[in-house]
Amino acid sequence: MQSHLGGAERSHESDIPGHTPTPARPSAGSVVPVPSAPTQTEFSHRPALLEECLAALELQPGAIVVDGTVGGGGHAAAILERTAPDGRLIGLDLDGEAIRESQQRLETFGDRVTLVQESFRNLDAILAHLEIPQVDAVLLDLGVSSHQLDSPKRGFRFATETAEETPLDMRMDQRAGATAADLLRRARPEQLEKWFSDYADLPKARKLARAIVAARQRAPLRTASDLRAVIADARIGSGRRHDPSTLVFQALRIAVNDEADALSEGLEAAIDSLRAGGRLAVLAYHSGEDRVVKNRLRDAARGCTCPPRTPVCICGGKVRLRIITRKPLSASDTELRENPRARSARLRVAERVAEAS
Ligand SMILES: C[S@@+](CC[C@H](N)C(=O)[O-])C[C@H]1O[C@@H](n2cnc3c(N)ncnc32)[C@H](O)[C@@H]1O
Repeated sequence: MQSHLGGAERSHESDIPGHTPTPARPSAGSVVPVPSAPTQTEFSHRPALLEECLAALELQPGAIVVDGTVGGGGHAAAILERTAPDGRLIGLDLDGEAIRESQQRLETFGDRVTLVQESFRNLDAILAHLEIPQVDAVLLDLGVSSHQLDSPKRGFRFATETAEETPLDMRMDQRAGATAADLLRRARPEQLEKWFSDYADLPKARKLARAIVAARQRAPLRTASDLRAVIADARIGSGRRHDPSTLVFQALRIAVNDEADALSEGLEAAIDSLRAGGRLAVLAYHSGEDRVVKNRLRDAARGCTCPPRTPVCICGGKVRLRIITRKPLSASDTELRENPRARSARLRVAERVAEAS
């Protein structure tokens, strides 16, 4: 198995107002040592909509498949079994712990597997580096893994029991970049409000942004407990279905990892990488994420994106996809009984078509 650690020298600080980290390019990496990989149980959760994903990707023996979010390697292992004896899997993840875990889990598949610690937004450059011109299928299982959610030290978790020892980190790629605490310390109130509103539909986003600015003048917000206290004092959650902390932590996580832009760029790169007839399957876990996927796939299936009354196409857009799932698929009741975290998963599938010249 080959493993690459790409982009480790990425610039550390992002500009807070726009917060768009520079995409890193893959480097010719070295084999990742695996001394401190998490144990199997830390990562072991059932991959969401596994059978539906495998069927959607129409996997054949010998296929070249990209798993853009390899995580603990659950989907990847099943893909490798389906594409035996000689199918190839390119597994990407921003998270070094995920890469180490999947390296262990997928070891038996030998040189059929290439793992790269990189963002799927850079898929085009990664495939060029690996000299792979086209692939047969791409899977993106978005968001955070159970391992990330369940590890207080990573900062994604806001549960009361661990909140005091949970640093406000939330970086998927721990090699570089601003943490959630950095963003909370430096972002302008308008930027905070925009994140809460755009990434989590938080009502009273402005009220919370102001409360954060007032709180940080008294003391920096360092832990999940510090942030929870500000959220509780701001009284933004009365009558809401969700604990407002869920929405606030979700918005911050998306901002820290620049997930919105990465998803748009990653979808574009994934569509570009597919051969005609190749399949793209995307699992999204919240409405904002699913909306981006739906709109991007719809635009690529429509080709021209000029406004309705434009007499002649000026955008030059070509039809590149055929939508397979008009409505997204979700987990069956049986799956939900075994894996409640699949509750919010929405699977959308599309097929690459040959572009008319
Ligand atoms: C839901 S988990 C994937 C679980 C995986 N399918 C499995 O079976 O174990 C999502 C993973 O995507 C990774 N991730 C999120 N955004 C990413 C990006 N832009 N590029 C690469 N990996 C990303 C996260 O670090 C996390 O490990």
